[in-house]
Amino acid sequence: MNDWLRDIFQDRPGWMNALLIFSGFMAFIYMPWDIFWKPVAEDKEVWFGILFSGWAAKVMAFPHWFVYGAAVYGFRRRRPWMRTWGAAYSAQVAFGMFVWTVVSVGGLVGLIGGILAASPFALVAWGFWKSEDHFAGGVASLAERYGEWGLVTGASSGIGAEFARALARQGVSLVLTARREERLRGLADELEKQFNVATRTVAVDLGSSDGPERLADAVRDLEIGILVNNAGVGYAGRLDKQETERLQSLVAVNCSAPLVLTSRLVPGMVERGRGAVIFTGSAAGHQPIPFHAVYAATKAFDLFLGEALFVELRGKGIDVLVLEPGPVQTEFQDAADEISHGGEPAAEVVRVALDSLGGPPSVVPGWFNWLRANFAQRIGTRPLTAYIARGFMEPRTPPDMR
Ligand SMILES: NC(=O)c1ccc[n+]([C@@H]2O[C@H](COP(=O)([O-])OP(=O)(O)OC[C@H]3O[C@@H](n4cnc5c(N)ncnc54)[C@H](OP(=O)(O)O)[C@@H]3O)[C@@H](O)[C@H]2O)c1
Repeated sequence: MNDWLRDIFQDRPGWMNALLIFSGFMAFIYMPWDIFWKPVAEDKEVWFGILFSGWAAKVMAFPHWFVYGAAVYGFRRRRPWMRTWGAAYSAQVAFGMFVWTVVSVGGLVGLIGGILAASPFALVAWGFWKSEDHFAGGVASLAERYGEWGLVTGASSGIGAEFARALARQGVSLVLTARREERLRGLADELEKQFNVATRTVAVDLGSSDGPERLADAVRDLEIGILVNNAGVGYAGRLDKQETERLQSLVAVNCSAPLVLTSRLVPGMVERGRGAVIFTGSAAGHQPIPFHAVYAATKAFDLFLGEALFVELRGKGIDVLVLEPGPVQTEFQDAADEISHGGEPAAEVVRVALDSLGGPPSVVPGWFNWLRANFAQRIGTRPLTAYIARGFMEPRTPPDMR
């Protein structure tokens, strides 16, 4: 419990922690009560120093709710936008306090009272503005934080290739691995020229029984500071129509490979007292998904493994993150024999992951994916959620595999 609380509140100045607690109270207790329980006749809201009452106040409470909810999220995740967001909102409150006091009290007393009432909020606005180092983007580069070398599995396309580009941009030299060697070489050339980093390519099939061990052996001479367990495959269809061998390979790539690589590379990180491990899980790992049953189960494995590891490695200088995207525009859907259904750009998903590294143990990019992954699971029962998930997945499965 103490460690959990320390995780939440460490690395943040006291005034920010006070605002986090206050925002949490407002978002989860006060605003729901204010909106759904408090009689309309008693409702009052102030925006920019203007007092709203009755139904107008009820409506204006929703943006307030949103502001506090976003603040909790922004503080917890150290989002870069939080700096401007916090400064703008606090400045608005300072302005409102000033106008409100001047208008309601009047005269010189009102003016002095307005300045006094506005000052604490103006100070908070200034504090936000000066806190660029605290929120992601202002911190040291990944190479400085974790070490010179990174290893990205599944680097020949999609999310893995974008991880490689994003890490190289921050000065990290890279081991790039997948099966398609020519693609890895092309990416390595690009990164060396564009970002002046060193690279090594290792072509390996992570679905084979000795693939992950061979990869770990191939990087034994390097101090890998960042491990990105990203390679993964799906396979759409009803289990009784699927090929057993392909399912076994899927489990090996999605579960055994990250397990072996993490087990082989984390001891070095612990010895050096710094490092990062990222698992590319999936929003699919939050619930059973009929017609993607084995894939969803492997991603639940990745999520549980990563979240447990996050706690095991606390205090050892190692950050662990499970990235859980919804649909992303990559080769994944084709490779999984899914009927194509679009998705987010891979670079955006990677940006969210790297902004989140060092924060809470998992992140779901995109609010709709977050709602699907969390609320559906928490509000509904697991069997109900499985039926809902079938509604999403069945139309994405080729008819002959349903
Ligand atoms: N795209 C999505 O909608 C989505 C959503 C949630 C989570 N994810 C997860 O994101 C990760 C990356 O997928 P992606 O979307 O970027 O798909 P992708 O474009 O198909 O990339 C998959 C990568 O994994 C590699 N890979 C597949 N089988 C392999 C094997 N047997 N041995 C070694 N490498 C192998 C592929 O390289 P080679 O083929 O060259 O070996 C490729 O580089 C996966 O873990 C996936 O589960 C994807």
